[in-house]
Amino acid sequence: MEYLVIYSSQTGNTQKLALEIFEALPGKSKDIQKIEEQSGEADTYFVGFWVRRGICGQDILDFLDRLHGKKVALFGTCGMGGDRKYCRQVSRRMEALIPEDNRYLGSFLCTGKMSPQVLEKFRAMQEREDSPGIRELIQAYREAMLHPDERDLKNARTFVQEIVHEREEGEGSWG
Ligand SMILES: Cc1cc2nc3c(=O)[nH]c(=O)nc-3n(C[C@H](O)[C@H](O)[C@H](O)COP(=O)(O)O)c2cc1C
Repeated sequence: MEYLVIYSSQTGNTQKLALEIFEALPGKSKDIQKIEEQSGEADTYFVGFWVRRGICGQDILDFLDRLHGKKVALFGTCGMGGDRKYCRQVSRRMEALIPEDNRYLGSFLCTGKMSPQVLEKFRAMQEREDSPGIRELIQAYREAMLHPDERDLKNARTFVQEIVHEREEGEGSWG
């Protein structure tokens, strides 16, 4: 198979992105799978994760660890997606998890709404001790509420087009 979209999603944001990415991929030699149902092999993987404490969950960590000799693109959602510097840090951290015998194609991160339990946690932290940092987190919660939105999905489609192009460009020097 040419493309496999593999993703982990607890509340549906990353799944939304995954479906958009799958639709945007050209041809018919493609599949989309939840990480827990992952099976089969492909030439190029789009691996989707949600950010948990600054990195992906254990399921994605384990999956990336098992990938060898593949082309790999990453995509994900996080509450702090509006903070570009933060997203760059997360992307770099994620890229470092891909074993070196793969070819990394790039990554795409956008904002994903946070669950009400996350807000409750922020509020409890604020009650214990208010600070500019905790106020920023509460603001980020509000700003994330409508994401991923149409624009995020459009950006995801553009990301796919760039990756597909990059993958074809690199074809000559690969393998
Ligand atoms: C336990 C937990 C930890 C989280 N940690 C972070 C984090 O470190 N940074 C961040 O930007 N968002 C964080 N988030 C927010 C999620 O990454 C965000 O809501 C994401 O879009 C969820 O994706 P999903 O709907 O695919 O599960 C966290 C959410 C939860 C529930």
